Amino acid sequence: MSRQGQSRVAIYPGSFDPITNGHEDIVCRGLRFVDRIIVAVAHRATHVKRGLFSIEERVEMIREVFADEPRVEVAEFEGLLVDFARSRDATLIIRGLRAVSDFEYEFQMALMNRQLAPAIETLFLAPGVQYSFLSASLVREVASLGGPVGDFVPPPVRERLEARFRERSRA
Ligand code: PNS
Repeated sequence: MSRQGQSRVAIYPGSFDPITNGHEDIVCRGLRFVDRIIVAVAHRATHVKRGLFSIEERVEMIREVFADEPRVEVAEFEGLLVDFARSRDATLIIRGLRAVSDFEYEFQMALMNRQLAPAIETLFLAPGVQYSFLSASLVREVASLGGPVGDFVPPPVRERLEARFRERSRA
């Protein structure tokens, strides 16, 4: 709760294609500081990356991962992140910082978002060191080449990744 007695809501935005153990770790850490976290999956039109999973599949997987955590909500958004944050009365944006290489992009985004919406702060959280090398793109690559991804993603995601690449190898 904030000092004004309002519940503190944070947005954790990203592509989550798919959600990894590193993302899950960031959400768990974030819950120590806020009352609720909205994990917000960005629509393709909102940024340039091509995806493996549809937005609906990503949302579904994240819902499965946090099925037992009532303080986590999952949503999708289009357009400016700060507009979405305002529409949900969120005052914080959470982003994970794995390494110095993440810093420049994250810093620029945080300052742009602050310029667009001065009342919204960005909170950077470092994941557990065991996740510092982890990225959704590497997980997709390992899975696409038939490698084991069980150490990198939650079980429902592993199942979907394996199924997706099984389908593709049959096609
Ligand atoms: O996990 P990602 O792909 O690094 O997430 C990037 C994301 C979705 C957070 C970023 O592209 C974003 O915020 N897109 C929304 C559009 C927007 O608000 N752009 C201006 C922010 S600088």
